[in-house]
Amino acid sequence: MRIAVIGSGGREHAISWALAKCPEVEQVICIPGNGGTAEEEKCININPANCDYTETLIGNDAIVQVCAYEKVDFAVCGPEDPLAGGIADQLWKVGIPVVGPKSKGAQLEASKDLAKSFMQKYGVACAKSATFTDAKSAHEYVDEQGAPIVIKADGLAAGKGVVVALNIEDAHAAITEFMENGKLGEAGNKLVIEEYLSGVEISILAAVSVTEETAANGKATIVPFVTARDHKRLMDGAKGPNTGGMGAIAPVADVTEKQLDAFQKTILEPTLKGLIEEKMDYRGFIFFGIMLTKSGPKLLEYNVRLGDPETQAVLPLMDFDFAAMCQAIIDGSLKDFSFKWKKGFACAPVAVSGGYPASYKKGYKISMDKNVINGLGTKVFIAGGNVDENGILVTSGGRVLAASSVGETFEQAWENSYKALEAINFTDMFYRKDIGLPGAAESL
Ligand code: AMP
Ligand code: GLY
Repeated sequence: MRIAVIGSGGREHAISWALAKCPEVEQVICIPGNGGTAEEEKCININPANCDYTETLIGNDAIVQVCAYEKVDFAVCGPEDPLAGGIADQLWKVGIPVVGPKSKGAQLEASKDLAKSFMQKYGVACAKSATFTDAKSAHEYVDEQGAPIVIKADGLAAGKGVVVALNIEDAHAAITEFMENGKLGEAGNKLVIEEYLSGVEISILAAVSVTEETAANGKATIVPFVTARDHKRLMDGAKGPNTGGMGAIAPVADVTEKQLDAFQKTILEPTLKGLIEEKMDYRGFIFFGIMLTKSGPKLLEYNVRLGDPETQAVLPLMDFDFAAMCQAIIDGSLKDFSFKWKKGFACAPVAVSGGYPASYKKGYKISMDKNVINGLGTKVFIAGGNVDENGILVTSGGRVLAASSVGETFEQAWENSYKALEAINFTDMFYRKDIGLPGAAESL
């Protein structure tokens, strides 16, 4: 099999690695990939911007052209932006199957308003909310409701569109910034204002196979993976600014069977019903962002992709063939696919460039003592790293890499990941020391 992976982050390195491990997979074409996939067995990086596809022109999308030229059996799309832009629709149109929803399904992440309407229509457990298209009504609503309260821009805003306002002034300021000052552009023209939920968060990634056919033959399904938890704050003890994620663990030991059961009944099942009733062709992944509240799990958001860095902790726990699972998502046999997870725990702390999430420098050499890292059994997933013109792996982003280890106990996994980080170095490297430890998870 030849498989394309669209995207260039740590999540895409982990997906490419998981696919490359499968015996049936001959080559993974990473579009464009990064410095991690460049060095991964069976993987090649192709940047569509550097290609000339005049002979095989199919449509006008460079990614589609690479997939067609490379004769891939299917593609896996990592990030949400291409999905919202309709990459899955385009690939299917030229006969290339893809793991990732068509643009209609991708709206569940691309529009918070649409996602909330969907949740409310199908009775998914979530926070009470209202949607506004004019600032005056939004300000009035906030005055009525009081603080704490949560202000969310409707559109995709690269993680900058949510303000958890602990006081009324911050809530008004967020409305002004998003709607009146246009800080997020179009994404802020519509706002969802939501009840504040307190608790601790988890992420549940899941495989989804919903089509007209599976809906008709009873095989439409959403299969949750092991639970995971991201750590969004920069500093130990969940302090400092929010980031794209400073590390993930899986599974999350403090989640109870009762909570998982409630998730299944009040979030997953109504979501499946909604996807079927809305006649979605949804073959891909859903990431449920969940708040574990005193009155049960509540859905904060849908993402139409795997989580980053959650994927880097979850995929090493797989005891099944990832390519075969992708194939089952595509051909509608996911409900019969045997998922098997390793018994242990995974810990994947992230090393970032000094200065992140504000400004930081790039281009520093990443040195790794591979003997030490391999000896620990740790897998390093590169996120912001590229191979430069001299063939050297250098930093190219804020989140640089994740050191992912699996252990029989969480402590073992934790220790190996942190020993591996000690064998890695780049100028101004920074990481949290407490990923997965007590007090590390933010509690709202
Ligand atoms: P979202 O993009 O909707 O997941 O929001 C981003 C983050 O804001 C979440 O991961 C939570 O930490 C926080 N958040 C979102 N909605 C709420 C809510 N209703 N109550 C408390 N915190 C929230
Ligand atoms: N880890 C959060 C996300 O992928 O959105």
